Amino acid sequence: MTYDNPLRDPRDRRLPRIAGPCGMVLFGVTGDLSRKKVMPAIYDLANRGLLPPGFSLTGFARRDWADQDFAQIVHDSVKQHARTEFREEVWKQLAEGFRFVPGNFDDDHAFDQLRRTIEELDEVRGTGGNHAFYMAIPPGFFGDVVGQLKEHGLATPAEGSWRRVVVEKPFGHDLESARQLNATLADVFDSGSIFRIDHYLGKETVQNILALRFANEMFEPIWNSNYVDHVQITMAEDIGIGGRAGYYDGIGAARDVIQNHLLQLMSLVAMEEPTNFSADNLRIEKEKVLASITLPRRLDLTTARGQYAAGWAGGEKVEGFLDEEGIKKTSTTETFAAVTLNVENRRWAGVPFYLRTGKRLGRRVTEVAIVFKKAPHLPFAESATEELGKNALVIRVQPDEGITMRFGSKVPGTAMEIRDVNMDFVYGGAFTESSPEAYERLILDVLLGDPPLFPRHEEVELSWKILDPILEHWAKQDAAGKSKPEQYESGGWGPASANAMLARDGRVWRRP
Ligand code: BG6
Repeated sequence: MTYDNPLRDPRDRRLPRIAGPCGMVLFGVTGDLSRKKVMPAIYDLANRGLLPPGFSLTGFARRDWADQDFAQIVHDSVKQHARTEFREEVWKQLAEGFRFVPGNFDDDHAFDQLRRTIEELDEVRGTGGNHAFYMAIPPGFFGDVVGQLKEHGLATPAEGSWRRVVVEKPFGHDLESARQLNATLADVFDSGSIFRIDHYLGKETVQNILALRFANEMFEPIWNSNYVDHVQITMAEDIGIGGRAGYYDGIGAARDVIQNHLLQLMSLVAMEEPTNFSADNLRIEKEKVLASITLPRRLDLTTARGQYAAGWAGGEKVEGFLDEEGIKKTSTTETFAAVTLNVENRRWAGVPFYLRTGKRLGRRVTEVAIVFKKAPHLPFAESATEELGKNALVIRVQPDEGITMRFGSKVPGTAMEIRDVNMDFVYGGAFTESSPEAYERLILDVLLGDPPLFPRHEEVELSWKILDPILEHWAKQDAAGKSKPEQYESGGWGPASANAMLARDGRVWRRP
């Protein structure tokens, strides 16, 4: 719901979309996600004038805090992590809407108090009965919390208002657990009120894949197996697991980011043009891709996994994964994963999609590279094209946001010598607007009830169907003592097995 503005044409997406009266309840206020992403994003939205004046944020946690203590936590988080400048007047207005409810998830009194708090906010801040419940907590608690929301009448909106729930991955750890998790949520909220955050979809450069493909004429004709040799999707991080051992051990790179971020990127790259960008139509096209993905027969040769060993990162000596605090010495959790996926449809038959991700790699970079076939004939002396590689279109998701076209060009001089060159589109050079953080966009969309950027349950299930056989294969290898994640040096580009995986197909990974 947006404010009624008679000057505003709802189809005009250039005008700012401002959330109508509402509030948000945040579960898990002490966690990293809340402090580093959610709280700063709320401030940034307020600072950009995109939140309603009476917007309210209620924290809920097992802490003996008063409203002011909670406000202090948000303040620190905003000061440290907000994207936009700190403005006292914005902060003051926002902070007037802060409330804190202390309690455990099984504490009935606390949820009663939460209900009273929300009613009070509707009264004094004009939040209109519209509230989003943000679960920045481990999924093991989702059931308890949504059960309490239902019990205490918080999940059902009064006529003309809304209640929504926001959940973060992991959406289960395999297909079966994802189904159970969904059943838990669906028992309390209807599907249109469940917002699953995959923060990659909130990134400008990811949304731009749709613009690049469907607003232009020059790419789509060659966006298929006639011209594309293969696609590489890389999400490399230079950081290790940091303080997240408890979450990460037993999860690993494939579940952590391939199941969600990388498969979402792949769907956007591979999907057909949707009828329009409504949530249903967009999701239908993504789901068709996910449903068409198959795995090669030999998973031992077409997947790779690794664990970072000690090495250097950003000029500092760093420990290996197995020496990180909280990680079992015998852990077989992978911090690097690479997989080969096929898309069995007319557009993509025969074009492998290689997905890789890893922690403690050479640098932080996420990119999608569409690598084209070589020209069928090169009317040059062989020596002229020795250094000519395959053409590529590289969507640079982050941090150096933009798009690169790589193609051969004549080296200036008297002889014909052809070498690869890059043509770059750089966000910073083309636009004066800076890109909002993914969480700003996604939280605003939750408050507006705008669902296209949120994966629905079907996508989650389809993604697990792709990943489960790979995870089972690795688990079997571990159990049989046949193989385990290969150690790779921190600061490098992953295990040798990942390179061998591509080399078998006569290809190489790009060095971003
Ligand atoms: C999260 C993963 O979803 O994405 C983290 O759980 C990862 O392990 C993070 O570090 C990376 O996000 P971004 O936006 O920095 O690429």
